[in-house]
Amino acid sequence: MKIAVLPGDGIGKEVTAQGVKALKAALDTVPYELTEAPIGGAGYEAAGDPLPPATLDLCRGCDAILHGAAGVPEDEKRPPQRQAGFALLRLRRDLNLFANFRPVFLFPELVGASTLKPEVVEGLDLMILRELNGDIYYGEPRGIETTGSGADAAAERRAFNTMCYTESEVERIGHAAFQAARKRRKQVCSVDKSNVLETSALWREVMIRVGREYPDVELTHLLVDAAAMLLVRNPRQFDVMVMGNLFGDILSDEAAMLTGSIGMLPSSSVGQGKKGLYEPVHGSAPDISGKDVANPLASILSAAMLLRHSFDLEEPASRIERAVRFVLREGYRTPDIFEPGARRVGTREMGERVAQAIRNHIH
Ligand code: IPM
Ligand code: MG
Repeated sequence: MKIAVLPGDGIGKEVTAQGVKALKAALDTVPYELTEAPIGGAGYEAAGDPLPPATLDLCRGCDAILHGAAGVPEDEKRPPQRQAGFALLRLRRDLNLFANFRPVFLFPELVGASTLKPEVVEGLDLMILRELNGDIYYGEPRGIETTGSGADAAAERRAFNTMCYTESEVERIGHAAFQAARKRRKQVCSVDKSNVLETSALWREVMIRVGREYPDVELTHLLVDAAAMLLVRNPRQFDVMVMGNLFGDILSDEAAMLTGSIGMLPSSSVGQGKKGLYEPVHGSAPDISGKDVANPLASILSAAMLLRHSFDLEEPASRIERAVRFVLREGYRTPDIFEPGARRVGTREMGERVAQAIRNHIH
């Protein structure tokens, strides 16, 4: 079992340290190899590249990757290829990790922490499946050009990106969605903008075609604007929501808040095999980093997803999840999910309490 640990930047480092603690506690009897490497701003500092070649090699050679978050304030002054987030985009694509699962699950203990009314979010359990290797994130051509020339045309810059999907890209994420739904409540809602975009029209057509192979799964469609609205109006109607890279990025942040805090949401990015990259949905949050206030639960829950998907270790994975549940039930809360009457703890203490509960085999 070879696991690469890429803490990244900001609170990514703090929460990953706790995710690793959970991993180690759950893997008490299983042999494994953990190797840490820099990525993002830390990669740039160490090797002049947000995705240093050594980090990429390590990731290619391992079975699973636990990532924190990448992004530093200096990114704004750096060219796109030198920015922290770019490293992650390269890594996802290089490793063919095209399916990004973002489970939006509300722990019953946190029903009061959501900004939405308890009766709207109670029992919430949906899965956002985001396509991760295509769309406007990678489409060519892209760039910024200067238009206008000659005496009478004022020169100004024009920026452009290309939104695109091939049929096979939509097919493979479609299959992933229907297969995921089969293990859940057998409903897929495909999200697009087919009233305006050709990319989305093709997306919808292919989803319908793939759906015919899964007659036991119900397929519905929503335009992305309506989906954004319904996610806060009545999120419990959803089971699996599948969408392209850009819409998935946006809607998963929105959906994360239904669970009380974006600090609660883990994710897995996988391809055809068992290899995967596991990371919190949140970013590096430079504004709160170094203060021991970040919520490590998304990283800890990502570690559970890692054990389950990449190594088929169901028991240790659910042991981590039960431990998280236990610690929440005991009333421990980081500031982002704090409610009056709860016990406020920092990043480290939260991680330590979960690790302790894992070691104690809490049920
Ligand atoms: C995410 C992040 C990344 C993305 C950034 C850091 C490039 O927002 O994983 O959701 O847009 O995919
Ligand atoms: Mg995002």
